[in-house]
Amino acid sequence: MKSNKMNAVVCNSYGGPEVLELNEILIPIPKENEVLVKIKATSVTAAHCAMREGKPYFGRLFLGMMRPKTKTPGTDLSGEIIKIGSKVKNFSIGDEIIAETGIESGCYAEYICLPEDGIIVLKPNNMSFEQATGMIDGASTAMAFFMDHTDIKKGNKILINGASGSIGTAAVQLAKLYGAEVTGVCSTSNIDMVYGLGADKVIDYTQENFVSNKDKYDIIFDTVGKLSYSQTKTSLYEKGLFLSPVLSLSVLFQMMKTSVLGSRKVKFAATGLRGENVRKRDLISIKNLAEQGKLTTVIDRQYELSQIKEAHEYVSKGHKKGNVVIIPVESPSVIYK
Ligand SMILES: NC(=O)c1ccc[n+]([C@@H]2O[C@H](COP(=O)([O-])OP(=O)(O)OC[C@H]3O[C@@H](n4cnc5c(N)ncnc54)[C@H](OP(=O)(O)O)[C@@H]3O)[C@@H](O)[C@H]2O)c1
Repeated sequence: MKSNKMNAVVCNSYGGPEVLELNEILIPIPKENEVLVKIKATSVTAAHCAMREGKPYFGRLFLGMMRPKTKTPGTDLSGEIIKIGSKVKNFSIGDEIIAETGIESGCYAEYICLPEDGIIVLKPNNMSFEQATGMIDGASTAMAFFMDHTDIKKGNKILINGASGSIGTAAVQLAKLYGAEVTGVCSTSNIDMVYGLGADKVIDYTQENFVSNKDKYDIIFDTVGKLSYSQTKTSLYEKGLFLSPVLSLSVLFQMMKTSVLGSRKVKFAATGLRGENVRKRDLISIKNLAEQGKLTTVIDRQYELSQIKEAHEYVSKGHKKGNVVIIPVESPSVIYK
């Protein structure tokens, strides 16, 4: 007899990794326009840790003021479609896909229902489920910054701070594809990896402060929110851009100030809040680049769903290399065909 239950992470309050509980909940049933996906891999990102904590507080406007609106976290996945609704036209049972759910979340589970017109794309055929999942968050975020906020082109000089993280490892590769000259900033143990991703130059932040070397850049992309615009603006050309995916009062203030004053600009964006059309367009580009062998992913560690607290503890330390992936291992009682 089939079980209709699955393992899923449930989170009823904001807080540390201890708020994440593994529970048995009902396997969702796809509506007529939905597909049921058996999740093969999902990722744990720095953004998930911030969402779990409900910080910055501004984010609660979207996530829920007192507690998370969506009980099961996780924003990206790879998996196999195992059931389709009666009106689904674009996908078939057996399709291997990658998908983003954004703030709707729900990916820390064994199964999920997704609308067929959601951000779902066939999995790159040259990648494992783990690799494909690991690629989604960093590459989508980096691509969104480049597409929406820069006109990055051949010959531009870009410095990527946090080049060993999820966004950073993708940003190095994408900036090279756009023809830029890339300087990556990371710590000693990640230097070889960042060169391996294509960086032209790598600066070890434990040994050198790039601001003091007098080199100038068209773009400084502080992927990990560790720099300040005021301390680094002398390293930007006159019309240079300072990009940050991390919202702070300083970034907000400098973004407003530079929007009216001076020729250098500061940009923050919450890329997960962009329209589904553009996010799907970018995910298709990412899949194509992966299949052409132009974009790869770095996987640091892999955990099982039952180890979700350990995975969050590790990621929240802020020193992962590339990406951390979760494999939902089916409990023996769950047999859903
Ligand atoms: N705005 C958006 O739409 C958006 C979307 C996604 C993520 N985010 C945010 O973007 C940030 C980065 O995300 P992520 O997933 O790329 O982070 P991540 O993968 O967790 O970043 C970890 C990396 O940061 C490096 N790092 C730590 N301190 C550093 C420093 N002082 N200088 C340079 N590198 C340093 C670490 O290298 P070492 O171990 O060598 O120090 C590690 O490799 C997070 O705050 C996340 O919440 C925003």
